[in-house]
Amino acid sequence: MQGLLAEPGRCLVVVGGTGGLGRRLVPALVQQGYRLRLLVRSLSKAVRLFPAGVEHYVWDSRRELPERVLDGAWGVLNFAGAPIARRWTPKYRQIILESRVATTQRLVHALLSAQHSVQVFLSVSAIGYYGDCGEKECDEDTPAGMDFLASVCQRWEEAALMAAERVRVIIPRLGVVLDRQAGFLPHLVPSFRVFLGGMPGNGQQWVSWIHWSDVVSFVLWGLQIPTVGGVYNVVAPHAVRFRELCQALGCLLQRPCWLRIPVWGLRLRYGGLADTLTASQRVLPRKVTEAGFNFRFPKLMEALREELTESDSL
Ligand SMILES: NC(=O)c1ccc[n+]([C@@H]2O[C@H](COP(=O)([O-])OP(=O)(O)OC[C@H]3O[C@@H](n4cnc5c(N)ncnc54)[C@H](OP(=O)(O)O)[C@@H]3O)[C@@H](O)[C@H]2O)c1
Repeated sequence: MQGLLAEPGRCLVVVGGTGGLGRRLVPALVQQGYRLRLLVRSLSKAVRLFPAGVEHYVWDSRRELPERVLDGAWGVLNFAGAPIARRWTPKYRQIILESRVATTQRLVHALLSAQHSVQVFLSVSAIGYYGDCGEKECDEDTPAGMDFLASVCQRWEEAALMAAERVRVIIPRLGVVLDRQAGFLPHLVPSFRVFLGGMPGNGQQWVSWIHWSDVVSFVLWGLQIPTVGGVYNVVAPHAVRFRELCQALGCLLQRPCWLRIPVWGLRLRYGGLADTLTASQRVLPRKVTEAGFNFRFPKLMEALREELTESDSL
């Protein structure tokens, strides 16, 4: 993990620890010597996932934070957000927005108003910020896009950045996270296994991806280096076209990649999410690269091989 160790016993308050990324992050943070307080919606789920080694607090993100939860804490990590891989009805769009922006606002309100010792606030965002960029490369200075997810990301980041007057704020704009246990791969791989592998649209759209272990490394790196602050694209240095990603999956799974899923079919099934599935995002990790961050998986084939050949693979 970039050769850095946490100062022993530093306490982090984590929101969203029960999600796909949280499940990867929490054990890594504990291993690094952090003490963790998880703010969770379901105590039984949290206890099942992390039966020992962390404290659990039940929190409904529409309410104030549990009393004294920030006492003695050094950092706050925010990974909360309702899943986007659902049909986007008007009601569900509101849930996507509020589970991110309102939750972040609550945390920031506590960080700005309470007496506490917190020094760093890491609040996740997504490369959905850039919208559909076609063939254009995007770095952290590229302006926000115009679609729904872009506006969610913009408001999410604005809410988080309000905390910068009191604490160091880090905002990772995550690419598509590759993890055999959660998110994108478990949606895609089963269709390949039954010889129905394919791609949305013509497959020419760029996909900016990141292996989950590099997300974990980024978080540890960002927490431990005091000069890390602001927005960072957290994507591997080599984006690929969706077609290449599907061909790599087909190659590793020894299955054909032949289906083209038409955009109208996606729209029928997923509503507005269809536009996100076919959006092209060629995002560069300019700031992390300049700062000397080392990717464990800079290339797609190695990242996929790691996920698909592990014993608990899909
Ligand atoms: N994974 C990716 O490819 C990716 C890419 C870019 C950005 N991100 C962002 O990174 C964050 C974590 O991603 P993930 O893959 O771990 O997501 P995930 O598996 O869907 O987990 C989301 C977390 O947010 C919590 N949550 C869900 N709905 C909520 C609500 N209405 N209010 C408060 N909390 C809520 C969940 O709690 P429960 O366990 O109780 O449901 C869970 O802890 C999300 O905000 C996501 O948008 C992820």
